[in-house]
Amino acid sequence: MKDQAQKLRDIVGSKKAKEDTTDKISSMNSQNNLDNYNTRVIAVTSGKGGVGKTNFTINLGIALTKLGQKVTILDADLGLANVDVVVGLVPKYTLLHVIRNEKTLEEIIVDGPNGIKIISGGSGLTELVNLSEAQLLNLVGNLKTIGKYSDYILIDTGAGLSNSVLTFIDAATEVILISTPEPTSITDAYAILKNIISEDKEKTIRLLINRVESNEEGISIYDNINTAAQRFLKVSIQRLGYLYDDPLVTKAVKSQKPFLLSYPNSLISQGVEAIASRLVNELNFEVREVSGLKRFINKLMNRYKKDY
Ligand SMILES: Nc1ncnc2c1ncn2[C@@H]1O[C@H](COP(=O)(O)OP(=O)(O)OP(=O)(O)O)[C@@H](O)[C@H]1O
Ligand SMILES: [Mg+2]
Repeated sequence: MKDQAQKLRDIVGSKKAKEDTTDKISSMNSQNNLDNYNTRVIAVTSGKGGVGKTNFTINLGIALTKLGQKVTILDADLGLANVDVVVGLVPKYTLLHVIRNEKTLEEIIVDGPNGIKIISGGSGLTELVNLSEAQLLNLVGNLKTIGKYSDYILIDTGAGLSNSVLTFIDAATEVILISTPEPTSITDAYAILKNIISEDKEKTIRLLINRVESNEEGISIYDNINTAAQRFLKVSIQRLGYLYDDPLVTKAVKSQKPFLLSYPNSLISQGVEAIASRLVNELNFEVREVSGLKRFINKLMNRYKKDY
């Protein structure tokens, strides 16, 4: 058994190691001039699964590239219907290979449609909270290279309240929360909203209602969620928009060609393009102040410090 003094030495030692790690990361941050990158980091999430996150993320990414933006998608969804399925790509390597130092991030990035870069999280994401110092430094060093490729990093988080979903939401500067008109989807969206707000009241959260039958339906669902958020959580949620229920989405999934490319003139494609355009042109002032990538990396690092 360790004596009291040894325990104390261990604690001081581990605290020192933590400070050393923080110093090393800060110096890596300044060397890489992360402040120069104006990357926006947006997490796309939902309470209930199957509401359209993956399809929306990919098609939003394509719409953003059409506006001249560089886009990287981080597939942080451990479910079955992943980004690779929707775009018809099977990445050989995932973030797990980067964490294990077997590959660099540049080696695992896959080129998706319209110049989008795709990073597959794989089971590497569940290991994020248990990284050793060397692994963390390695991952942080690698993540910085994304800045070069990206005006936007879109994170498809998977549904629900798992630890890795919340880590990514916390690290992102902006959140797009998706709900469908189904009552269970709405209550689950509210539940995750409550969780996000309890971690960070200042977080920019935008609500997208997917699969609506009419504008009125979209407006009334947004109003219900926003009224509850204002009354009980004391925050306002921004309205990102609505997307119609459209059989072309499923058709595009079956052909593994995103609807924005297979049906560019459809109502759903125009809806996503309008949202991309609002994100780039209107909804950008409050978030361009800080480098989203720098914040993202620092937040991941803070999680590590908490768990250390
Ligand atoms: N606007 C829409 N209109 C019609 N169908 C849609 C629409 N959006 C999504 N869908 C359908 O819902 C299915 C699930 O979509 P998607 O895989 O994007 O959801 P998800 O939220 O990523 O799911 P998961 O939580 O399992 O990761 C799609 O295959 C498609 O059939
Ligand atoms: Mg998905």
